[in-house]
Amino acid sequence: MQNFDISFPEFVKNEGLKRWVKETVALTEPARVYFCDGSEEEYHRLCEEMVEAGTLHRLNAEKRPGSFLARSDASDVARVEDRTYVCTPEKGDAGPNNNWMDPAEMKKTLNPLLKGCMRGRTMYVIPFSMGPIGSPISQIGVEISDSAYVVVNMRIMTRMGRRVLDALGDRDFVRCLHTVGAPLEPGQKDVAWPCNKETKYITHFPEEKTIISYGSGYGGNALLGKKCFALRIASWMGKQEGWLAEHMLILGAESPEGKKTYVAAAFPSACGKTNFAMLIPPKALNGWKITTIGDDIAWIKPGKDGRLHAINPEAGYFGVAPGTSLRTNENAIRTISKNTIFTNVALTEDGDVWWEGLSDTPPERLIDWQGHEWTPAIAKDTGRKAAHPNARFTAPASQCPSVDAQWENPEGVPISAFIFGGRRGTTVPLVVEPKGWEHGVYWAATIGSETTAAAVGAVGQVRRDPFAMLPFCGYHMGDYFDHWLKIGKGVTHPPKIFGVNWFRKGADGKFMWPGYGENMRVLEWIIGRVNGTAKGVDTEIGLVPEFGDLNWSGLNLGEERFRAVSKIDREEWSQELRLQSELIERLRDRLPKRFVEIHHTLQSRFEGPAQTSPGARA
Ligand code: GTP
Ligand code: SPV
Ligand code: MN
Repeated sequence: MQNFDISFPEFVKNEGLKRWVKETVALTEPARVYFCDGSEEEYHRLCEEMVEAGTLHRLNAEKRPGSFLARSDASDVARVEDRTYVCTPEKGDAGPNNNWMDPAEMKKTLNPLLKGCMRGRTMYVIPFSMGPIGSPISQIGVEISDSAYVVVNMRIMTRMGRRVLDALGDRDFVRCLHTVGAPLEPGQKDVAWPCNKETKYITHFPEEKTIISYGSGYGGNALLGKKCFALRIASWMGKQEGWLAEHMLILGAESPEGKKTYVAAAFPSACGKTNFAMLIPPKALNGWKITTIGDDIAWIKPGKDGRLHAINPEAGYFGVAPGTSLRTNENAIRTISKNTIFTNVALTEDGDVWWEGLSDTPPERLIDWQGHEWTPAIAKDTGRKAAHPNARFTAPASQCPSVDAQWENPEGVPISAFIFGGRRGTTVPLVVEPKGWEHGVYWAATIGSETTAAAVGAVGQVRRDPFAMLPFCGYHMGDYFDHWLKIGKGVTHPPKIFGVNWFRKGADGKFMWPGYGENMRVLEWIIGRVNGTAKGVDTEIGLVPEFGDLNWSGLNLGEERFRAVSKIDREEWSQELRLQSELIERLRDRLPKRFVEIHHTLQSRFEGPAQTSPGARA
């Protein structure tokens, strides 16, 4: 054990926190303890220290004021789903969607790893609020971490510092323990991105409201307020208390007549939430305006008005860099023009950043995300990317030009529609409205999506990703479906549910739908359905628009292309329903009965020859 007395600053009064800090010091043996106050001065000081240590590179102050680049270890670039555990006393409660270990067993595994794991390092104590401080929907956590990179990212992504402890008083909080798992021996020189290359554990103890993360410094593995707390632990809390924690963006859409509608949309990781949340409608759509509440996580509670109300528990964006450009997402580009931390993007010769998709022609010479020389010719020969496909930016939400005036409203905003989408090269049409809440919940539960670089593992493989929550639901997915069925029945005005797919490909392997800003056309139809003005036609899987039901002004897509991107192919759907059966089998022990019935109904619609009569207009 290190023998020093911890001197608690005057703003640390919570006795439970003091005890936990003392225990953690005794276990992890840091060289010193630092309590984060969340001030700007502290932020700049830590950034400066990291510049000196080589962890951060200061970017050109004229081109990218107040901004930094971090390059991670090449082995520590994304979430590690196979190292992620939910440790409930009963295995069944974690469900087949989670890796499970008995809580006592997991602690036995972790304790020897945690013993002395912070030697030679500073232990940072980071109080944070998920949601506006004082909101009835918000929750408070404290992250203990030995990474200064985590501290500065948490300061952007959450409300962080002493004001959080002032609001906490002597109440309990969610305990988030994080270590990069790389203790320093006396005299040992540190590396730019410490982590543990061999061993990683991202573990959750929902009944103790505790998270322990070992061995990674990256994103969702290390910024524990995000996926670990705001989704896995919060979904478990929501199940007990009657609310929802979802992998959803929240946006406001103001119609040309000035009517505001809020919608929330769930797409899996790296499938378009940030882009949809900041969408800029095509000019020809006569004055539609989109405003952003959140881009990744929504906490949703039934309100007294019989509607579901949502807040964004985060205060910043940890967004995918590749593909982000003035053409695809101008609001994001402007958000990250200053005060931004970039991770694993490329560095230009004049000290700015670059990634694939930022411009059509890459700069002639770059330093790639691993710190190596990169030129277009090298890329052509080796296939090496300048930026890692999961390179990210961390930027304050307040810098977003489209941020909604209500984004910090403690009561949240009322949600009129839920949209569920995946990344599907085939099968799934541009947009569909399943009939009613139960069919909608079934649709969300059975979405498939191609895996992306946001998690370590194969990319491009279709897997079932229910509600885009497969990696994030902190309990049995069957119970989660049941919870969703009940939430909708418990409010007088449940949102309407829709499915979308921006990613269908043609025979040439290219996306058939232009996407990005043009997605407004689909959103306009969805809002029209909510208001009872838009029309469509019935199909086996729900109501879909015909060509004439969408607004095509300013876009010459053509009816043939629209049909291709909207096609419901009987062969493909028979196969799709077989894939859905696998999910149903896997969750069978806790699947709501209604799901099996809906599955059978859908299957029967695709058996035998197609009906000759067209579906009814509605
Ligand atoms: P996470 O932060 O991982 O949860 O991801 P996200 O859902 O916020 O994804 P994001 O909006 O960052 O998009 C990921 C990638 O998909 C980026 O490279 C985008 O350029 C691309 N993308 C987003 N929207 C569209 C679209 O409408 N069409 C196409 N073709 N690509 C899109
Ligand atoms: C995701 O993977 O869905 C993300 C990035 O939003 S991370 O914070 O790393 O989980
Ligand atoms: Mn996400």
